[in-house]
Amino acid sequence: MPHSDIVIVGSGLAALTVAYHVCESMSVTIITKGSITDGNSYMAQGGVAAVMNAGDSWESHMEDTLQAGAFHNSIDAVEQLVKSGQKEIQELIENGVDFDKDPSRKLLLGKEGAHKHHRIVHAGGDATGKAIMLFLIQKLKNKVTFIEHTMAVHLLKKYGDCIGVIGKDAAGKLAYYTASHTVLATGGCGALFKHTSNHSSLTGDGIGLAYRAGAELADLEFVQFHPTMLSAEGKAAGLISEAVRGEGAVLQNEAGERIMNNVHPYKDLAPRDIVAREIFRRNQRGETVFLNINPVKNFTNRFPTISAMCRKYCIDLEKGLIPVVPGMHFLMGGIVTALNGETAVPHLYAVGEAACTGVHGANRLASNSLLEGLVFGKKLAVHLKSRPIGKKEHPEELAYTDQFLQELPSKREIQSVVTAFLGIERNGPGLKNAYEWFNHFQLKIFSYEKFVKNSTIEQLEILNLLTAGLLISRSALLRIESRGGHYRRDFPEQEESLRGQQIRQSLEGTKIERPHSGVIK
Ligand code: SIN
Repeated sequence: MPHSDIVIVGSGLAALTVAYHVCESMSVTIITKGSITDGNSYMAQGGVAAVMNAGDSWESHMEDTLQAGAFHNSIDAVEQLVKSGQKEIQELIENGVDFDKDPSRKLLLGKEGAHKHHRIVHAGGDATGKAIMLFLIQKLKNKVTFIEHTMAVHLLKKYGDCIGVIGKDAAGKLAYYTASHTVLATGGCGALFKHTSNHSSLTGDGIGLAYRAGAELADLEFVQFHPTMLSAEGKAAGLISEAVRGEGAVLQNEAGERIMNNVHPYKDLAPRDIVAREIFRRNQRGETVFLNINPVKNFTNRFPTISAMCRKYCIDLEKGLIPVVPGMHFLMGGIVTALNGETAVPHLYAVGEAACTGVHGANRLASNSLLEGLVFGKKLAVHLKSRPIGKKEHPEELAYTDQFLQELPSKREIQSVVTAFLGIERNGPGLKNAYEWFNHFQLKIFSYEKFVKNSTIEQLEILNLLTAGLLISRSALLRIESRGGHYRRDFPEQEESLRGQQIRQSLEGTKIERPHSGVIK
């Protein structure tokens, strides 16, 4: 039975950052469902938000993060995030990450939605995630054990402590990986939705694992939709970075009218929830919305990945009109953690999108997620290095049934329900429908462990999607207001009193507690 100091589940930026900062002194095993590069971080286009010039300040980055987050954020988490940006970027540059620069070697800084300043550091034009991931993978070569094509299916516990994880490989074989510390860096749950920018492997596995292990989850009702995904062949075919609008592109209808002009003072660069909702409403009325890229200088040089994708789908870049639809992009909620990554289960940690430190509030600010991976990945690594390494524990055999799972819905059926009732606009009856539909599968959801041995990876993913759907619909039903990524047609207002109080307190510099909604144990 392989044993390491640390087992990390997932191989995105947050996972590799933890490994990078501990691998010289601790043994690390990384278990990932696909290959190392299958995931959202590798596909990340826009960049990393960081305060890199004199005209900008961490206070301004903080204000933008809080405003985008609809003041649902943890002030402490935001402060730590924005104050660390510059140092993280400088360290990456010193260690060899080649961010884009102008001819005088000054960093080129992009702009994205809801940012008051140009502060998005990028690489390869629109291939920032890939550049940082390749750097980290190179650094981790021969220093950590990578177990690819293996799904983490069960968290091992002894006397209440997490002592590792059971993995199931593509051939269906189970293996026990024990560890002193187990880290969930499993990302989000984009596969719940018909239209998503997420990699198809994002099936809410961390939510399922943590929930079944008794960790706390919160803020699951806050789901971010990216406004601009390429609409082609009847699907959301890939992300068109917000950085494109930051370089001057605008949203328009078929008649050429700008759609964001009278919606928000920041127009096309309003917070994502507002832009996504406007496009959604127009799509519902049968309108097609286009991103007009004609104002962008040297589009194909600045955005090579996006240009290649458009060409693949026969979009004529000369005409400059890209049809767009919103798609699920990011889950603000997740496994509740302290700022050092600790969950409610001893020796179990979470980081990155899987975690909920409260840093993103109700709606994440653009390009704060790679920054989150870098900052909170390092903080978790520092914490882990300070912890004693326990002795190897021997787990008990998993109890299982010889029965096979039957009558599971398909991923497509789940996506139809989630897209209809848990999407950009919600309402009470729809949320109740969704909750009841998911609840119908609760016996299977709660018997997950018994099916681990005899089920396929696809079936276990479906059980995780059902778990995530059940918990998200419950959280969304409980929040009877609209805030950030949770918009209810039956309660369109944000609770003014709470928001007003928070703004006042944050302006006064008072430390405030985040209104911790919907903690699910
Ligand atoms: C984008 O490039 O628009 C996505 C960046 C992000 O999600 O922060």
